[in-house]
Amino acid sequence: MQWLVTGGAGFIGTSFIRLALASRPNLSIVNLDNLTYAGHRQNLSDLEGGGRYQFLQGDICDPSQVECAVALAGGRPAAIVNIAAESHVDRSIASASECVRTNVLGTQVLLDAARTCSASRFLQVSTDEVYGSLGPTGSFHERSPLAPNSPYAASKAAAEMLVRAAVHTHGVPAIITRGSNNYGPFQMPEKLIPLAISNAEADQPIPLYGTGANIRNWIYVEDHCRGIMAALERGQPGEVYNLGGPDEIENRALLARILSLLGKPASLIRPVPDRPGHDFRYSLDSTRAHAELGWTPEVALAEGLARTIAWYRAHPAWTTQARDSHFTTYYRAQYPTLHSEAVPR
Ligand code: NAD
Ligand code: DAU
Repeated sequence: MQWLVTGGAGFIGTSFIRLALASRPNLSIVNLDNLTYAGHRQNLSDLEGGGRYQFLQGDICDPSQVECAVALAGGRPAAIVNIAAESHVDRSIASASECVRTNVLGTQVLLDAARTCSASRFLQVSTDEVYGSLGPTGSFHERSPLAPNSPYAASKAAAEMLVRAAVHTHGVPAIITRGSNNYGPFQMPEKLIPLAISNAEADQPIPLYGTGANIRNWIYVEDHCRGIMAALERGQPGEVYNLGGPDEIENRALLARILSLLGKPASLIRPVPDRPGHDFRYSLDSTRAHAELGWTPEVALAEGLARTIAWYRAHPAWTTQARDSHFTTYYRAQYPTLHSEAVPR
């Protein structure tokens, strides 16, 4: 059995491919990824040459490159799993065009390929951000209205609409998953948790947007990947499944916990201007995935944070190469008030 996975050199894609190959002995995977700043081929380099994993550098927006990937995956892959995206909200606020190109156009190119090659399944990895923001109570369920607030969230919602249209009009057997905030190994240090860990380890300030009262619903990346697998293998075409984590926490409390685990002072937390349009709270009701897919997240935040910190401590070279000169340029532009203090390595 062959699958085509896109974006497998990124954070979630790396974990997904490892999990899929480890748990399905008869599976082989082609990973199509164009290696943006967020893609790291070396994440999976130990799998190359083993006969079950092939890396192809290519752009999901380019039909001919997608066609090559489909051919490499045997011409009619059992599944196309679209994980590739421009995934960072702050970058989409600074400039939306790349995000719209990859997340919207790229999804349509892949849907067209799925139709042409009659792939048995198409899975679109989406996000809780398509629902918009919650107040202090309640949770989003799959029938909650979509109300995306950032350019990133809007592009993911647009992609979902294209998936819906492909199911309805062309009968593409597509499924959508909406995951909550992931954390774990291999996450780019532009995102809150790895940024906090890597800055704190270097005794550098950690930017906290606004009051820090915003709440996120955290899921350990392997739990999310098990949910994607469950939806792919047991989900119904045309359906949507929420994949929410077990814990919700305010950003300021999360940073305090991380610093305590690292043995670093809370004084490293530095309030900075708020993210424009910052969603207050996300919370997913995942009852459908529990009942229909038999999926439930297993890793609580305390355990997941301990594992994540251990991974970053064991892989300083990975973080150093992720925080390259491009990252430094981004960091200076994103956090001008911190830049005068120090540029963390
Ligand atoms: P990431 O930024 O770490 O990785 C994205 C990967 O996609 C990179 O390897 C990059 O090189 C690749 N890519 C980007 N543009 C491409 C293109 N045009 N063609 C081919 N490859 C391209 O992202 P992530 O955090 O792993 O997120 C993966 C997916 O999961 C995204 O679709 C995101 O919307 C979704 N998601 C993420 C989270 C989260 O908390 N990180 C939560 C829910 C859903
Ligand atoms: O909810 C799912 C989404 O989670 C995914 O769809 C996105 O791809 C992923 O990037 C993530 O989006 P967030 O914007 O929630 O994640 P981020 O790590 O950027 O921010 C988490 C929270 O921390 C958010 O409330 C903003 C805040 N924050 C973030 C950064 C980078 C800070 O306070 N300071 C920061 O420096």
